[in-house]
Amino acid sequence: MTTLDQRLDNERTNALNFLSTAADADAVEALRVAVLGRNGSLTALLRELPSVPADERPAAGRLANEVRGEVEGAIQARLDELHSAAMEDLLAADALDMTDPGRPVRIGHLHPIMTVERDFREIFHSFGFEVFEGPEIETEWWNFEALNIAPDHPSRDLWDTLYVAEPGSVEAGEPRPAEDGTILRTHTSPAQIRAMQALTPPIRVITPGRCYRNDAVDASHNFEFFQVEGLVVDRDTSLADLKGMLEEFARALYGEGTRTRFRPGYYPFTEPSVAFDIGCLVCGGPGCPACGRSGWMTILGAGMVHPVVLRAGGLDPDEFQGYAFGMGLDRITLLRHGIPDLRLLMGADLRFLEQFNGGR
Ligand code: PHE
Repeated sequence: MTTLDQRLDNERTNALNFLSTAADADAVEALRVAVLGRNGSLTALLRELPSVPADERPAAGRLANEVRGEVEGAIQARLDELHSAAMEDLLAADALDMTDPGRPVRIGHLHPIMTVERDFREIFHSFGFEVFEGPEIETEWWNFEALNIAPDHPSRDLWDTLYVAEPGSVEAGEPRPAEDGTILRTHTSPAQIRAMQALTPPIRVITPGRCYRNDAVDASHNFEFFQVEGLVVDRDTSLADLKGMLEEFARALYGEGTRTRFRPGYYPFTEPSVAFDIGCLVCGGPGCPACGRSGWMTILGAGMVHPVVLRAGGLDPDEFQGYAFGMGLDRITLLRHGIPDLRLLMGADLRFLEQFNGGR
């Protein structure tokens, strides 16, 4: 073996050894440059070929080509190896187990008061009513004056109003009601005025929503509660229409056999006014603590829209009449589920509320 042969052989052994442990593509590339590059060690040996004695040259040339081919092949093989190992690591890190059972998604449900509201919407929708919503922040004009409740009229005391403070007055340590009369609506009735101003008769709307009163919180009161208002205005709407509609409503809500009665009532914005009762949902008639031993429960107030109110709504009372009704949703919800205390319903305790996930 000539010296060149040995050196070629060493070159091959070294290169192949190195490649077998090269950790990454950069190391392989460094070797390629060091061996096969312009100034590479193998390249240097190839340059020596011309000076090999003529009779040995063909064999030396073959060996040189063989070594170069082997090293090139080993470089490619190592690169392929490294590439597929990297790919495998990536796949392992990204692996998705398609057989892993999914995690259950917790789907919420409507609050029981909202379920009652939806039921009301559905019933009134079937009677041809549409939904018209008004703002929760109103002014005294919309909440009182327009509804025939004069500023100093004692009936205003029927509604314990929550006033919005005049800007800056709280910071100044002297809170006082806003000068523009901004308040939280104490009932949904201001939406009657807004509906009359926005729509053209015949009007047939319900307006569900939150109301606020300065009420002490107890088993049946809260400062925030829910009402549904109804308003019908047309050229010849009568108290008989109101009575028929409410009776149908009570039957749709509580079943065909539901007993109902009307009693005289008083509201400044309806004349005449009525209270609408249904047979006690707890005892069914004989009387019990829930109905004050009367056998009846009042579920809403109603009446014929007062001419002053029609005028505030921009309508001529000589041309149009209407009826209105308003009812609270909170108590109806308590009764539906036999819940003894409103505070349970208004708390955000999911352990309690999750019992009412039936339906929607
Ligand atoms: N707004 C009245 C209340 O809050 C209810 C009502 C509405 C009465 C419409 C008559 C007509 O008590």
